[in-house]
This record gives sequence, C-alpha cells and structure tokens, in this order.
Amino acid sequence: MGQIEYALYMVIKILKWLLAVVVLIQLIPFGHTHTNPPSTKEPAWNSQETRALIHRACFDCHSNETTWPWYSHVAPVSWLLARDVNGGRSHLNFTEWDKPQTHAKDIAEQVKMGDMPPWFYLPMHPNAKLTDADRQALIDGAEKSVGPQK
Ligand code: HEC
Repeated sequence: MGQIEYALYMVIKILKWLLAVVVLIQLIPFGHTHTNPPSTKEPAWNSQETRALIHRACFDCHSNETTWPWYSHVAPVSWLLARDVNGGRSHLNFTEWDKPQTHAKDIAEQVKMGDMPPWFYLPMHPNAKLTDADRQALIDGAEKSVGPQK
C-alpha cells in the first residue's frame, strides 16, 4: 500500500468509528424527553410589546412553551439543549409565575450585560436578537411587569 492509500484507509477507518459513536450516543436517554409542562400563570404584562419581546428572546429556555427544533432530537446537541432548557426553566419561568421567581429582579442586569439571550443561541435563532432599543424596551417592560430590577 502506498502512503496516500494508507492515509485514505486510515481516514475512512476513523470516519467509520465516528459514525458508530454518533449512532450509539443516540441511545443515551438524557435529552430524549421534550416536555412542555402546562403553563400555569404569566406575569401581569404591562403591554403586548413587552410580552412579544420576552417571548421571542427568552421563552425557548424560560417558559414551558419551548419550541424544540429537529436537531434537539440528535445527540450530542440534544444534551446541550436539554441542559439549557432545564437550567433556564429552573432559574426563571415566565409561564409559572404562580411560583416564586427569585431571579425576576436580575432580568435587567442579564440583558444589559448581554448575557441573555446567550450568544450561542443566536445563530440558530436570529429572531431572538435584540437591538439596543429592544434591550431598553425589554428592561423597561420587565420593570413594569415583574417588579423592580436590581
Ligand atoms: C438558550 C437558552 C436561554 C435563553 C434564550 C435565555 N436564557 Fe436566561 N438562562 C439560561 C440558563 C441555562 C440559565 C441558568 C444560569 C446560567 O447558565 O447562566 C439562565 C439564567 C437566567 C437568569 C438568572 C441569572 C442569574 O443567575 O441571576 C435570568 C435573569 C435570565 N436567564 C434571563 C433571561 C432573559 C431576560 C432572556 C431573554 C432576553 C433569557 N434569559 C434568554 C438560558 C437561556
């Protein structure tokens, strides 16, 4: 076997292993359930605009109304998404406002710092991008809808 044939043989061998791994990790159950539990209560929104802004930028991770895209069914992406949604809902859930939401006061800070929505969410969800004006409107709306921000 010449050097090029050998290199090709190794590349194909590695690709076959990778494929096997990708197929096998699909069997790991974490990330399989895409639940949207019932929404029980939303904040008393000061306006439809505030709700619309938060709906498009935050609801996928901070509500029980997550839109699960097709790639949320494919490991390892499914694991990352399940982790984000579980973590997001447990910190702040705009559709369970009948439960204590201790992070409600942190919305302005997170949005101002640009930490929320997370940067890695935006390439696949361009609709969630906020302009400076959107950010200000969201912060003002949050203040009026969910209470004082810190
Ligand atoms: C891609 C999922 C995702 C989106 C979209 C998202 N968040 Fe988050 N958010 C999280 C996760 C996960 C956490 C848990 C803490 C962490 O990992 O930083 C969190 C935490 C938070 C917290 C608590 C932070 C703290 O520790 O004080 C606030 C407040 C928050 N998010 C607000 C928002 C707002 C407002 C939006 C929309 C403008 C938004 N998030 C959009 C995933 C998301």
